[in-house]
Amino acid sequence: MNSPEDNILAAHQIHREFPTTGGPLPVLKGIDLDVARRETVAVTGASGVGKSTLLHILGGLDRPTKGEVVISGVSLSRQSEKALAMFRNEKVGFVFQFHYLLEDFSARENVAIPLLVAGRGKSEAMSRGELLLGLVGLKDRADHRPHQLSGGEQQRVAVARALANDPDIVLADEPSGNLDTATGRKLHDLLFELNSQQGTTFLIATHNRELAGRCERKLEIVDGVLTNQNTGR
Ligand SMILES: Nc1ncnc2c1ncn2[C@@H]1O[C@H](COP(=O)(O)OP(=O)(O)O)[C@@H](O)[C@H]1O
Ligand SMILES: [Mg+2]
Repeated sequence: MNSPEDNILAAHQIHREFPTTGGPLPVLKGIDLDVARRETVAVTGASGVGKSTLLHILGGLDRPTKGEVVISGVSLSRQSEKALAMFRNEKVGFVFQFHYLLEDFSARENVAIPLLVAGRGKSEAMSRGELLLGLVGLKDRADHRPHQLSGGEQQRVAVARALANDPDIVLADEPSGNLDTATGRKLHDLLFELNSQQGTTFLIATHNRELAGRCERKLEIVDGVLTNQNTGR
C-alpha cells in the first residue's frame, strides 16, 4: 500500500463541459484518478474523447466545471491564477506533441527558463540547464537553437525543460505524436529511463499502443469516465 505522502495526484469527480452554440458539450463526466510517486500511467482513448482536456485540468492549465484536483496535497481549485501559474511552473512538467521551444533561445536557455521564472540565479539556471540536457543525451547540443535540432532532439529538450524544477509529476500529451516510429521509440526509452533512474512520475496521454503498453497502468477514457485496462506488462 502507498502512504498518503506517496499520492502525488488525486482527482475527484472531474467534470468538464464546453459551451457551444448547440448548448453545453459534456466531455469529462466524473473522472476519479490517483497517481502515486514514481508511477507511469497511460491515458488512452479515441481521438476527441477528452485526453488533452483531462491533462490540461490535471496540470492546472484549465479548470474543471466541477470536481477537484489535488497535487502533492495542494488543491488547485483554491489557487488564484497567479498562484496557480507559480505552482505549475514548480510542481508540474508538461510535454506536448509540439515542442513549443522558444526559437530565439538556445537549448540550454530554453531548459533554464522555468528556473529563471522560479527565481533562480542565471548561472545556476544555465548550469542546471546543461546538466538536464546531459540527462536527455544532448550534452553537445546546448548551444543549438531549436531549428538546428532534429524533431526527436527538440522533444528531448522539451523533456529536459519539463524536468527543470524537479516537478512532482510530468504530464505528457502525445509526446511522440509528431515523431517517426523509431525516433518515437527512443523518446519512450528516455521517459522510462528517467522514471527508473530519476524516479520521475509520468502521466501520458497517448494513442500509441506500444507507449501505453510500457506504462505500469493503462487507463482509457470511455464516454467521459476512466476505465482500467490491463497492460499485461
Ligand atoms: N475549448 C473548447 N471548446 C469547445 N470544445 C472543446 C474545447 N476543447 C476541446 N473541445 C472538445 O472536447 C472534446 C475532447 O477534446 P480533446 O480533449 O482535445 O480530445 P483528445 O485529446 O482525446 O483527442 C472534443 O470533442 C473537442 O472538440
Ligand atoms: Mg489530444
